[in-house]
Amino acid sequence: MSTFYVTTPIYYVNAEPHLGHAYTTIIGDALTRWHRLLGDDVKYLTGTDEHGLKIQQAADAVGKTAQAFTDEIAPQFAHAWERLNIANDDFIRTTESRHKVAVAELLQRCYDAGDIELDTYSGKYCVGCELYYTDDELVEVDGVADCCPIHKRPVETLDEENYFFRLSRFEDRLLDWYAAHPGAMKPDNRANEAIGLIKGGLRDFSISRTSLEWGIPLPWDPDHVTYVWFDALTNYLAAVGFGDPEQDYRTWWPVDYHLIGKDIVRQHCVYWPAMLMSAGVELPKGWGIGGWLLVDGEKMAKSGGNVVNPLDLIDTVGVDGFRYYVLAETPYGSDGDFSYEGLVAKYNSDLANNLGNLAARVATVVAKKCDGVGPAPRADSPLAAAAATAFEGAARAWADVAPSKALDATWSLIRATNAYLEANEPWKHEPGDAVNAVMGDALEALRIVSVLAFPAIPDTSQAIWERIGFTTDISEQRLPESAGWGGYPGGLGVTKGDPLFPRLTA
Ligand code: MSP
Repeated sequence: MSTFYVTTPIYYVNAEPHLGHAYTTIIGDALTRWHRLLGDDVKYLTGTDEHGLKIQQAADAVGKTAQAFTDEIAPQFAHAWERLNIANDDFIRTTESRHKVAVAELLQRCYDAGDIELDTYSGKYCVGCELYYTDDELVEVDGVADCCPIHKRPVETLDEENYFFRLSRFEDRLLDWYAAHPGAMKPDNRANEAIGLIKGGLRDFSISRTSLEWGIPLPWDPDHVTYVWFDALTNYLAAVGFGDPEQDYRTWWPVDYHLIGKDIVRQHCVYWPAMLMSAGVELPKGWGIGGWLLVDGEKMAKSGGNVVNPLDLIDTVGVDGFRYYVLAETPYGSDGDFSYEGLVAKYNSDLANNLGNLAARVATVVAKKCDGVGPAPRADSPLAAAAATAFEGAARAWADVAPSKALDATWSLIRATNAYLEANEPWKHEPGDAVNAVMGDALEALRIVSVLAFPAIPDTSQAIWERIGFTTDISEQRLPESAGWGGYPGGLGVTKGDPLFPRLTA
């Protein structure tokens, strides 16, 4: 059995979970569910990023200690992921001791390798990004100079004695590594941006602060606490036991995919691999770089005031309706425009009309023409080729971290089956062999659809599975076998049930 380890970014706890956080988390969930169907031994990790100035300030603003504040917000993320049916195997908080141990180990290794050195730094710092910016990266906003290009707020000037990570030493090694591992970063256009950052020249970055207490102290100089990004990135190793003498982190490492947003490419695709090289740890096998979900053309963020709470949306379209929209609407890597109208339109066309209608129609005809007992499919069904194409397309797309393509391939089988029913019109014919043959084929197609759609809409897939007569847990199906034509045995009781996706008006 091969292992498959996937991570999301760990989310800052200065804000409650929003649609932007849900986006990557749902993509990781679907991707890992697909790999469980493939029979891989999966570890899906998410968590919360709890140290640093930004969190300290958010805690101060409500008169709480940083620890009390993070203890309150972190469970809100865990709760949101439960509501969205996220099957993460682990949830890491950077305030946990397993994490602190791993950070100390990684720091010490880089220090021992001579890649961390003391220096003085004066620079313009954005607390929102927890990053220093150069003058030419800053922008003017409403006549105010020196604003962060992302948060559009003035940066602060900080003067500090810091330890620096000598990133500049890694330029050639990183370029060589990426050249030797084409396709490690997906999709290609985002990969090119990352390579551009390295080719643009790498500056050493500060990895410690003396002006801050809310963080992990450097093992060799405890007056300094670790810079949040050095701290945060290490969560991916901490969760698999790095630094713990009782565990071998290499059971899971190197990670298969770090799923990230396009705004944190520099940290994940430049800083992180350099840190790992310095520490003598293998580099990740892959990165999936997603775009942003935009609301009115702006990234959704607490500071932007345009936050959409995913939990409000599931009341209308259901958990699976929401998951499907997030996965299917926007090609991975591109920016997507979120709108409520868009959500309802996608729900009505793909879920209510295509999938919902197919399931209802099949059950209705089987009830009327087959005494409610599902017939077996034909071995030479015209739908068999459509099913094979759907599976191959979905498998290729999931391997490429392209959920929207995987679902389009899956939905091609739904469309083909609806067209097949319309061409044959079994509802107009007398019961008998001809109707049985068509309905057996349609049931088999629906069985395969429910397996292929499971990563995106797990509860609906299970419901369809049961309605066509299975009593097992659909998550126990294994690919590619379960996608092979002919798995529907026939002779099972088929039930209609309530509409899976009642039509909505926007
Ligand atoms: N804590 C860091 C990540 C550390 S990982 C070692 C962080 N946290 S964050 O909560 O601000 O953002 C986490 C992720 O959410 C980022 O990848 C970011 O791109 C993503 N999103 C936040 N808003 C988003 C949208 N509106 N759309 C899509 N994703 C966006 O950065």
